[in-house]
Amino acid sequence: MSTLTEAPLKSLLDRLFAEADEASEAVFAEIDDLPEDEVARLMASKTEYRELYHRLENAPLAVSRETGRLLYMLARSSGAKAIVEFGTSFGLSTLHLAAALRDNGGGKLIGTEFERSKISHARENLAAAGLLDLVEIRAGDALETLAADLPAAIDLVLLDGAKSLYPDILSLIEPRLRPGALIVADNADDSPAYLARVRAPGSGYLSTPFAEDVELSLRIV
Ligand SMILES: C[S@@+](CC[C@H](N)C(=O)[O-])C[C@H]1O[C@@H](n2cnc3c(N)ncnc32)[C@H](O)[C@@H]1O
Repeated sequence: MSTLTEAPLKSLLDRLFAEADEASEAVFAEIDDLPEDEVARLMASKTEYRELYHRLENAPLAVSRETGRLLYMLARSSGAKAIVEFGTSFGLSTLHLAAALRDNGGGKLIGTEFERSKISHARENLAAAGLLDLVEIRAGDALETLAADLPAAIDLVLLDGAKSLYPDILSLIEPRLRPGALIVADNADDSPAYLARVRAPGSGYLSTPFAEDVELSLRIV
């Protein structure tokens, strides 16, 4: 039995991923008026990412189907009970992680998102899947929302918000990572500072690129 592959979640995910595919072209239209180097600058900025994501408030920007499945598998196989997610959007990754919590016998996922319309959307999706009781979505900038009140021992983390902040978010949650905790960083190539940190010898992580755009890291201290 897997919550992921049964009703109501399976058909919900089929629909949401199909919508995400359709939206992906419209995403580029939203930022079409910005020169490429300006998009790159905003993405790399540690202070101006908000404007970029606000323009994309109607875009799912979801993880791939494969990464979603990977998230479910990692959370399920590690018996995760406490999960933190940076960047909720419409909640496609959240649905996979919450499904694993359900199949692990319960737990809590703390997500964070600064676009309020996206939080409503994610909550609707989680409610439709019968998974809302496992998830708290904190409204606001993750630099603030993840600075306090984290679980004592975090089992798994998904980094999928502003790429420039990956090292900062890791610093916030690091003291709470249990030995053996897993960190999945989506589109990690866009965060060279994060890759340098988790791949450095003696960093406290074992880390490897996984699939095309994911960095998978294991906390070893
Ligand atoms: C790539 S999308 C997340 C997709 C989601 N994980 C999924 O698979 O459905 C990134 C999201 O992170 C949000 N975000 C980016 N930086 C953030 C920050 N500093 N604090 C809170 N949310 C942030 C954006 O508004 C956007 O919705």
